[in-house]
Amino acid sequence: MSSFRTLDDLGDVTGKVALVRVDLNLPMKEGSATDVTRVEAVKPTILELADKGAKVLLLAHFGRPKGQRHSTMSTSFVQGDVEKVLGKEIMFIPEVMGPVVEQSIGILSDGDIGLLDNVRFWPGEEANDPEFARGMAAHGDFYVNDAFSAAHRAHASTEGLAHHLPAYAGRAMEAELKALDAALGNPEQPVAAVVGGAKVSTKLDVLENLVGKVQHLIIGGGMANTFLAARGVDVGKSLCEHDLTDTANRIMDQADHAGCTVHLPYDVVVAKEFAANPPSMRVCNVHEVAADEMILDVGPQAVEALGDVLKTCRTLVWNGPMGAFETEPFDAATVALAKTAAALTEGGSLTSVAGGGDTVAALAHARVKDDFTFVSTAGGAFLEWMEGKDLPGVAALKA
Ligand code: 3PG
Repeated sequence: MSSFRTLDDLGDVTGKVALVRVDLNLPMKEGSATDVTRVEAVKPTILELADKGAKVLLLAHFGRPKGQRHSTMSTSFVQGDVEKVLGKEIMFIPEVMGPVVEQSIGILSDGDIGLLDNVRFWPGEEANDPEFARGMAAHGDFYVNDAFSAAHRAHASTEGLAHHLPAYAGRAMEAELKALDAALGNPEQPVAAVVGGAKVSTKLDVLENLVGKVQHLIIGGGMANTFLAARGVDVGKSLCEHDLTDTANRIMDQADHAGCTVHLPYDVVVAKEFAANPPSMRVCNVHEVAADEMILDVGPQAVEALGDVLKTCRTLVWNGPMGAFETEPFDAATVALAKTAAALTEGGSLTSVAGGGDTVAALAHARVKDDFTFVSTAGGAFLEWMEGKDLPGVAALKA
């Protein structure tokens, strides 16, 4: 892994202004956040800088206001949640540059924290306009990026600022990059990847990258149906991208050449309708799915066999659920396999890294989120990393 500077490389920061990019794009309901994991992730960085006497200016986006002020997308909406997690009052600053910011810095004491408004209110952010980045940089002495989950965006606050100020990875970014390196950059082998979710089309690049890097590719969720159909299985009325069966075959050929075993379910849970505990539900071999049935989860025998595969592996990367996990009992395969991975991690034989919105929800549902080696708070950035892409926000820190 090429190196990047961390907070350990900072000298005395007393009285210095730290511009800290965080991800406060929190899921909201009735005015408050339903999940503050992202705030908890950046808390160590913020408090470390504040404890060392820096004036900490938090820079974040919130929603997609497309370069205009939008009354429902001010970062002031998350101020209370951030204060609760930090256990400290913070000052809201309704700009990202200019006299208001300068005056606010004058009011802040060493160790105080300010929250700038939604950086995406200004078109220069998404355009990665160097003038805009320079304008923000003028207020800071150094820049800290602690928002891995926004690092796939080449925006002024995620990428541009690193060219105008001394740049450092925050603690969450540092932990994320180390974990991801241990999972795919420089992993202990054999490596297994679990890739699930509804559609192959959204994860083509992920699958193509993984077959060259992992020894076992476990495909679950609706995506598995497309692969089964490519192998000639009649998947009934299951969710299936029939137009992608050639692509699925190509990926399986690539896997063969690379020495990667692709694991598809050989027993499945099917039903005639998609509802909780439907009376028509049954477990069957993949070759016995009736024309009016749909596959909704991986079957118990396949789950057990997949658990045995994980027992032979040293590293696991997981993205996407194995079945329609939000509706019971189609969460069974995801929960069982996640529990096996958690137990192997606890036993010390497996390094397990997971990420992606649905995945985190699925692991939380299985009550094993804290038992994995690392669970990324990133959605799109985690996927792009699994695709093997260089993330602009990370690349700028390493430059
Ligand atoms: C996210 O929520 O995944 C990140 O904050 C990135 O948000 P974006 O997809 O709007 O860039």
